[in-house]
Amino acid sequence: MSVSQKGTPLEIERITGSLGAVVSNVDLSRALSDLTIAKIREAFLEHHVLFFRNQSLSPLQQAAFGQRFGALEDYPFVRPLAAHSKIIPVIKEADERLNFGGGWHTDLIYRPSPPLGTMLYAVQVPARGGDTLFADSIRAYQAVSSRMQQLMESLSVVYSVKHVTRPTSDSDNEDQRSRSMPTTTDLEVVESTPIHPLVRTHPETGKKGLYFSRGHTDRFEGMTPAESKPLLDWLYNHMTQPTFTARFQWQPGSLAFWDNRCVSHYALNDYHGERRHMHRLTIAGDRPV
Ligand code: SIN
Repeated sequence: MSVSQKGTPLEIERITGSLGAVVSNVDLSRALSDLTIAKIREAFLEHHVLFFRNQSLSPLQQAAFGQRFGALEDYPFVRPLAAHSKIIPVIKEADERLNFGGGWHTDLIYRPSPPLGTMLYAVQVPARGGDTLFADSIRAYQAVSSRMQQLMESLSVVYSVKHVTRPTSDSDNEDQRSRSMPTTTDLEVVESTPIHPLVRTHPETGKKGLYFSRGHTDRFEGMTPAESKPLLDWLYNHMTQPTFTARFQWQPGSLAFWDNRCVSHYALNDYHGERRHMHRLTIAGDRPV
């Protein structure tokens, strides 16, 4: 237990057998002590995704909290907030059908140096639905046989953002179109096909985990897409088994902070007719995979 800036103990409560913890007794809008940040980082490394409730964060305050964990990174496909160039709005309007992040994925895996983590803050959420699922890829790796682990360690995955539908691509909707932002950077990202090892050693904990995002995947290095497909499909099904997951129900003022190096996530799209509005920022990783 650590002591927050108000002198009350920071509480950390695990919410599933696999990953995820709720952190209480901390006001993220304030300048937190180095000790409190160190305790949050320790919990982040242990639980892989942290949830904070009842916060009230302006974009500047969210960015200030995010920067305590690393440099903030651009997201190339969505126009950022006017209030902060590194925070993007993730919005589904009441009349839209598509959502952002509605499939299992790992953020920005198609970049040469994938990010450390993502912070998502809930501004407005539906009365029910719109939960986010998280899956722990270290547990998924540990669950397979040693022979399968050896095979996995010999494989690298070729990624391409071309396989992803534009995140906010409801073409009939003017609001959605104005939020997407094709740029030169966008084209550079779309053209790149980075290759990452399937098994990654976490740079801070030293634990091995699967590093994989099916929706962004082209094939295994050295194999054709057709040869790769059966094992890619098996991996997807294996990694997203309920036993490796946690489910978070949002409230206005909730913030989730997940470790992109060992967690994939899925935004549920079960709330048509209601508006959901989040603010997302990405924290850069310190080195290529
Ligand atoms: C995302 O994929 O980053 C968005 C997740 C969500 O909106 O729940």
